[in-house]
Amino acid sequence: MDDKKMLQAMRKLKWEADYWKRAKGEDTGNVFLTEVDHLDHDFIRALHDRGIKNGKLLDIGTGLGRQAIELAGLGFEVTATDISRIGITEAARNAASAGAQIRFLEDDITHTSLTETFDVVLDRGCFAVLQEELLDDYTTGVAGLVRPNGIFLLKVDQKKASRIDHLSGRFTVTETCNSFYLLKDKPIKAAFFVLQTTKQERL
Ligand SMILES: C[S@@+](CC[C@H](N)C(=O)[O-])C[C@H]1O[C@@H](n2cnc3c(N)ncnc32)[C@H](O)[C@@H]1O
Repeated sequence: MDDKKMLQAMRKLKWEADYWKRAKGEDTGNVFLTEVDHLDHDFIRALHDRGIKNGKLLDIGTGLGRQAIELAGLGFEVTATDISRIGITEAARNAASAGAQIRFLEDDITHTSLTETFDVVLDRGCFAVLQEELLDDYTTGVAGLVRPNGIFLLKVDQKKASRIDHLSGRFTVTETCNSFYLLKDKPIKAAFFVLQTTKQERL
């Protein structure tokens, strides 16, 4: 196994362990593994401003699935992926309780097995948790999943916002603003980006 494959395997194990602890009611120390009950206003506004009301949408690193569930409720045809099988299982359970139709897949975005494209791709907190060594693979993966003239909505911890430079070869930033995640009622500073694939990418 080469170094990158080892890194990917170790990351998967780390996330599986966190979701496993959570399922057993233990504290993981990871605030993202506590339920939120809302769709972030950034996503709602970005879609509304562009008049996007439906279409194929992909939520990368969906976690407990809340954004995916709310977006399915708005009429999007949602696919939600996560590296963690245990996480995806819990997200699917949450979707079933909410009556949301979502296709859930276990998938690592740094070597995705998805081959189709989406009108909207969304990432809330996945890009931020990847190791530096995997950011270029992430960029390649996402660039192949956004359809020509589709959009990529990215929310990233403010401390990791400079990582946006990794995407610059494949994407153009069309909007950026300061934002926050509302987790456990405590806001965490974030940056919100709207990106499109570069013209070269669309050829
Ligand atoms: C910080 S959490 C955010 C979860 C969710 N998006 C939310 O907003 O609550 C990051 C999520 O990304 C997932 N993840 C980490 N690395 C990933 C990868 N390489 N591919 C897909 N998902 C990944 C984790 O399992 C975790 O669910």
